[in-house]
Amino acid sequence: MTAAIEINQDDEHVKAPKSIIIIFGATGDLTKRKLIPALYHLVLQGLLSSHTYMIGVGKPELDSDAYRERISSEIENFIDPDIFNPDLWQKQISKAHYLSGNFKDENTYIRLKALIEEIDNLSETNDNYLFYCATPPSYFGEIATQLGKAGLTKESQEAARRIIVEKPFGTDLASAHQLNKTLHKSFKEHQIYRIDHYLGKETVQNIMAYRFGNGTIEPIWNHRYIDHIQITVAESLGVENRASYYEEAGAMRDMIANHLLALLSVITMEPPHSFDDADAIRDEQTKILSSIQKYSPEEVLKYAIRGQYDEGATESGENLLAYRDEKNIDKYSSTETYVAMKLMIDSWRWSGVPFYLRTGKRMPARCTEVVIQYKYAPSLMFQKSMDKVKHLPANKLILRIQPNEGICLEFNAKKPGTLQELSTVNMDFQYSEHFGNAPSTGYETLIYDCLCGDATLFKSADNIEAGWEIVQPILDIWEALPPRNFPNYRSNTWGPEEADKLFDRNDRCWQNPQ
Ligand code: BG6
Repeated sequence: MTAAIEINQDDEHVKAPKSIIIIFGATGDLTKRKLIPALYHLVLQGLLSSHTYMIGVGKPELDSDAYRERISSEIENFIDPDIFNPDLWQKQISKAHYLSGNFKDENTYIRLKALIEEIDNLSETNDNYLFYCATPPSYFGEIATQLGKAGLTKESQEAARRIIVEKPFGTDLASAHQLNKTLHKSFKEHQIYRIDHYLGKETVQNIMAYRFGNGTIEPIWNHRYIDHIQITVAESLGVENRASYYEEAGAMRDMIANHLLALLSVITMEPPHSFDDADAIRDEQTKILSSIQKYSPEEVLKYAIRGQYDEGATESGENLLAYRDEKNIDKYSSTETYVAMKLMIDSWRWSGVPFYLRTGKRMPARCTEVVIQYKYAPSLMFQKSMDKVKHLPANKLILRIQPNEGICLEFNAKKPGTLQELSTVNMDFQYSEHFGNAPSTGYETLIYDCLCGDATLFKSADNIEAGWEIVQPILDIWEALPPRNFPNYRSNTWGPEEADKLFDRNDRCWQNPQ
């Protein structure tokens, strides 16, 4: 994994190997918003070899010059103007090429192979190719198959051939399994990098550093000390312009099946036997996902809550449309824009600890947070001053993934004065205060790691399927029983009231981000 370090531009040791990066979906949103800026940030940090070339493959009929112009006209919207260096950018795009073609047409791959060979002949790339599927998911299998047919996937000792596959990886367990099978016909497992951009976030990587790099944390990271854990991934935006994708996906497939389960596995995994071995880490993550209890149909109804946003208003009075009134959304849509669920893990460490997960669109804030609530102190001292309360507030550890990245410990302290009075206070670590802000789209580490052949932050085939095994019983019941109460939460609120009923004790409830 790449550390957020200051790099000497000339330090050849940290640079990723020479490569050609081939992006399918070169004119799409992901490429424009995330991938091109991430590549620029990597160049800026001196992490790419000067022999890194890019080929964009897309449907629009453009030549390479027109493509360069197109991305140059857009780039300033997605890069902080303070770090934009026109000379560096010119240097970077002079190594960008474009090939127009249909992803399903064999001829596209014949022409791609010829272009790759042409770049190889003119420049040194060591025959390392990274194929990036930034297309709609229906093309992932086809692209891999066509690359295989064109003879572009065979590795040698010197030449690496890797493929990055975006999410969503399948739409259910069966299709994910089928996609794995299709990819494996053209690529070996070690060549396949299934991306989940949450694993690229600094703060998510820091969960592992925090747990396993400190002597005080891990000994109390278990059922003896922890009461329960909550994961909230809240978004203030609605569906935006993604109706056709989102209507089919919904929050369960879009967020829970990947990002929230990825967070959960990093929080709950056992320590791997090595941090230098991607499989050692990924196997632990898969093991923990496999130990999550699968729901029976009755449990789905009790422990998995779905919601869809209704109209509402922002703090400043701006009206927000109901999901069903958004552009290109079915007036009777039963797609969920909110999910909350309670999970239990069958393991020695987590026996009896409930995990509460929730995610939703049109919530009051964009915020991703993990709250670890510790058990109460075993006996209540300070009786006199606390005679009205049964418990002092429990200690809480809050891992702020975004925004205001940091870690906060809430504990009780004595108020100064003669009386024995206690108050809850915070110990707060803020990433930006301590380390400053590095420009990041979340994709830099992932692209760099893939170029270097480090798959730690990518999902294995088993991991993906273990995730789908958890959500499949819920999807099946939800499909069989369409919701009758949609829309069931107002925009700009924290979701349906039903989600509060997941908590079976009065002293447990959702902790809304502050
Ligand atoms: C994407 C989902 O994977 O993650 C989007 O498809 C969601 O619906 C996005 O908005 C959230 O990512 P982030 O990094 O903004 O929290």
